[in-house]
Amino acid sequence: MAKGKKRRIGLLTSGGDCAGLNAAIRAVVCRAVLGYGWEVVGIREGTAGLLERPPLAEELNMRVFTGNILRMGGTILGTVNKGDPFAYPMPDGSIIDRSEEVIEGYRELGLDGLIAIGGDGSMRILSRLCQQGSIPFVGIPKTIDNDVAFTEWSIGFMTAVAATTDALDRLQPTAASHNRVMVLEVMGRDAGNIAINSAIAGGANVCLIPEIPYDINKVADHIANLHKLGRNHALVVCAEAVKSVNGDALWETHVDGEVRYGGIGHMIGDQIQKLTDAETRVTVLGHVARGGIPVAMDRMIASAYGVHAVDLVAQERYDRLVVWQHREVVDVPIEDVITRYRNVNIHGTTVRTARGLGICLGD
Ligand code: F6P
Repeated sequence: MAKGKKRRIGLLTSGGDCAGLNAAIRAVVCRAVLGYGWEVVGIREGTAGLLERPPLAEELNMRVFTGNILRMGGTILGTVNKGDPFAYPMPDGSIIDRSEEVIEGYRELGLDGLIAIGGDGSMRILSRLCQQGSIPFVGIPKTIDNDVAFTEWSIGFMTAVAATTDALDRLQPTAASHNRVMVLEVMGRDAGNIAINSAIAGGANVCLIPEIPYDINKVADHIANLHKLGRNHALVVCAEAVKSVNGDALWETHVDGEVRYGGIGHMIGDQIQKLTDAETRVTVLGHVARGGIPVAMDRMIASAYGVHAVDLVAQERYDRLVVWQHREVVDVPIEDVITRYRNVNIHGTTVRTARGLGICLGD
């Protein structure tokens, strides 16, 4: 593609939604339209939109962003977190490779490149698709789990931590009023980033994360000690994927046949009540952490990522992920990102801080 030529770029969101996606979409459009005079085509429903004929897409221009979209949670483009085009589940139960159909859908839109906002799973699929179809590609990281390698911040994480901290702020007075132990189960898949950050910010007494297998007797002893010291209540945060020292994580099979993490909060709540006699209640926060108005920092990070991603396309620097490192937006090869995982560093600041505050981590 000749430098300086007017371009038409595709933009999609992929994987689980989170707060701040719309701020990133807006930033891509602002930079592409105002900065370079390009066209932006918003692809609906991630790669699923490219499987439709005609592909599900609409032009995104500055008229779309006159209102409050910057402030809105979710994604105006829609998204999917299932239906891997390389192993696509068909209604008859068979699994087929539909990657060429996705690439054809992209071509039908007459695009000169693709920017995708997604987590590590989406980046793995999209970069493979783009290599197969020789599609110029740039990625932007998002996920409440904050588990994308090489970036300090993924879009959506800060809002998820704020929502989880808010839940703890609401649970504490009711726990204190009833002399109860409150267990809050939070999302985060295999990473305890949401759990440990909100446990620190929300004054939890116990925080269980997948990176540190827990011993329920140590948790019970910690709560019993708090009682001995005169505390009548306790707050326990547990990530959905935690494992005990002698057990596996808990999974639930749903009516659609999907198997997902679930049930650990209730199991831990029952165990605590049995071992300490403390009356216990359990709250499963779930998707509440994904929705809501994005906090200022998520909007700021998303905006910076969107601008940088478009600049990368302008410089024809492809197969890169924009990332946040040392107070700056920089970019790294996607290939490096998808072979790594960023969960909680058990020797890092958050774990040291939690221990320093006397939070029991179950070990
Ligand atoms: O990856 C983001 C995430 O919210 C995880 O924290 C959680 O396990 C999962 O997605 C939930 O996915 P779904 O929206 O399919 O229930």
